[in-house]
Amino acid sequence: MANSIEQEISRRRTFAIISHPDAGKTTLTEKFLLYGGAINTAGSVKGKANSKHAVSDWMEIEKERGISVTSSVLQFEYEGKCINILDTPGHEDFSEDTYRTLMAADCAVMVIDASKGVEPQTIKLFKVCVMRHIPIFTFINKMDREAKDSFDLLDDIEKVLGIETCPINWPIGCGKEFKGVYERESKNILRFEAVSTGGSKEAKETILPADDPQAKELIGEDFYDNLMEEIELLDGAAAELDMEKVQKGELSPVFFGSALTNFGVEPFLEHFLKMTSQPLPRMSKGEEVDPVENGFSAFVFKIQANMNKNHRDRIAFMRICSGKFEANMEVKHVQTGKKMRLSQPQQIMAQERKVVEEAYAGDIIGVFDPGIFSIGDTVCLPKDDFEYEGIPTFAPEHFARVIHLDSMKRKQFVKGIEQIAQEGAIQIFQEHEAGFAEIIVGVVGTLQFDVLKYRLENEYNCEIRLEPLPYQAIRWIKDRNTDMSKLRGVAEVKKVKDMKGNPLLLFKNEWGIQFVLDRNEGLELVEFSKE
Ligand code: G4P
Repeated sequence: MANSIEQEISRRRTFAIISHPDAGKTTLTEKFLLYGGAINTAGSVKGKANSKHAVSDWMEIEKERGISVTSSVLQFEYEGKCINILDTPGHEDFSEDTYRTLMAADCAVMVIDASKGVEPQTIKLFKVCVMRHIPIFTFINKMDREAKDSFDLLDDIEKVLGIETCPINWPIGCGKEFKGVYERESKNILRFEAVSTGGSKEAKETILPADDPQAKELIGEDFYDNLMEEIELLDGAAAELDMEKVQKGELSPVFFGSALTNFGVEPFLEHFLKMTSQPLPRMSKGEEVDPVENGFSAFVFKIQANMNKNHRDRIAFMRICSGKFEANMEVKHVQTGKKMRLSQPQQIMAQERKVVEEAYAGDIIGVFDPGIFSIGDTVCLPKDDFEYEGIPTFAPEHFARVIHLDSMKRKQFVKGIEQIAQEGAIQIFQEHEAGFAEIIVGVVGTLQFDVLKYRLENEYNCEIRLEPLPYQAIRWIKDRNTDMSKLRGVAEVKKVKDMKGNPLLLFKNEWGIQFVLDRNEGLELVEFSKE
C-alpha cells in the first residue's frame, strides 16, 4: 500500500553539504549514494574537467573550467529514509547560490580535511548556518592521510567557528598508521581496512568491544594505550551530546573517517539519521506552518535562466515546505496572487533531469518559470495565504563598475543585467543620485564577474568591461529614509542604492565601517538586507 503523506514526510531528511574545495565533499556524497544504491560505481557524481556533466551542460563556462558553478540536488534512499542532499559549488569562487542553498536545507554536513582544519570558505558558509540555527554535523575526512592532532582539530572548530563540538567517534592514529575509530557510545573499536578506492560498495568492518582482550592485538598495544588515555581525557573534557544544542546548531556532533576508502561513512549515515528530524515547520507571517497538516506550499530559493540557450528557459527551484506536490496541480503564486499550474516539474539529479509526478515537504523541485518568480517567493494552494520569510540578500565582497561598450545596445544591456540580477547571481547598485548612468555590480565570489561578462555577451549580445573597485565591505542603512548626503566621515565611502532603492554604503575595509558609525550618532548599518 502506498505511504500516506505523513509517512512520506516523516521519512524525509534534507541537508546541505558544505566544505572548502578539495576537502572531499564530492567523494563523501558519492559514497552516500553508493550506500543508498542510487549509483553503482564511484566516479559518477562529478566528472572532472572534460567528462560529461549533464546537470550543467548548459553553461560553457563550467565546461571550460571543469568546475561546477551551480548547485545540484541529489536524492537517495537509505534504510527507509528519503534523503535530499543539496550540493554546493565546489570552487573557491562561489556565488550567492551557495548561501541560498543553505536556506533550503534543514541541516548541514560540514566536511573538513583533517590535515587542514577549518578553512576560509567553511567559515563563510558556516555563518549562514549559524544565522539559521540549523544543526551542523562535522565529518573530519582524510584520516588515511597525515592529520592534525584530533584535539587541535576540535579546538579549531570551537574557536574559529564558535560552536561546541562532541566527537561521536575518535580516530586511532592517522595516515599510514590509521587503525580505525573508537565509537564512544557503544565503546566499540571499528578497525580500518582500506578498500579499493573504486566502486566497491561497502567497506569491510571489523568491530570489537574496546574491553575485549583481543582489542589490543587488533590495533597494537601502543595505539591501544594511547587511545585509552585520550578517551579518558575526552570523557572528562568534551561537551556532552546535548541534542537540544545540536538542534539549535550550538553543538556539532563530530565524526572522523575517510571518504575515499569508505571508512566511517555508513556509521556516519546511521548516526546522522538518528540525530536529525523530518522537515520542521517553517515561519510564514510570524506563524509556523506545519509540514504535515497543511497542503502543498513551497518557496523559491534559486532561479536559473537560459539553461537551454535555444529556448531561453528559466527554472525556478523550490523547496517544498508542506504537503504533497502533484504534477499539474493548481497553485497560487502568493506575491502576485495569480493562480497557475507548475509546469514541467523536474528533479535535477547529478546525472539527469527526471520529471516529478509527486514530491513531499523536504523535497526540492525545479519548475518552468514563465518569468514571474523571484527569489524568496511563495507558492501554495489557492485557499491558503502563506508567505515564507524572505531570503536575505547576502553582502557581496567584490565590486566592479560595469562599462557598457556599445551605447547602441543600451536597452538590451539594462535588460540583461537586470535579469541576471533578478536571478540573484549578482547584485547591482546605482550610484547615489547618478541613476542608471553608472552601474556597479557586487558579487560574493569573483567568478561571478566572468559569468556576468560571459552571459551578457552570449545571451544578450552586449560587450562589457569590468573595472574593479577597491571596496570590500557593504552595509545597508537600516533606516531607508536616511539622507545620505548628510552623512559624515564618508570621504572614502561610496554611497549607492540597490535595485529596490535601499540606501547602502560601500567601504574599503571593515575599519571604515566603525569610522562612519562613530561620526553619525544613531546610524544603524546592517549586513544583510531582508527587503
Ligand atoms: P571536493 O568535492 O570537496 O572539492 O573534494 P573531492 O571529493 O573532489 O576530493 C578532493 C581530492 O581529495 C580528490 O583527489 C579525492 O580523491 C581526495 N579525497 C577525498 N576524500 C579522501 C580521503 O578520505 N582520503 C584521501 N586520501 N583522499 C581523499 P584528487 O586527486 O584531487 O582527485 P581524483 O583525481 O582522485 O578525483
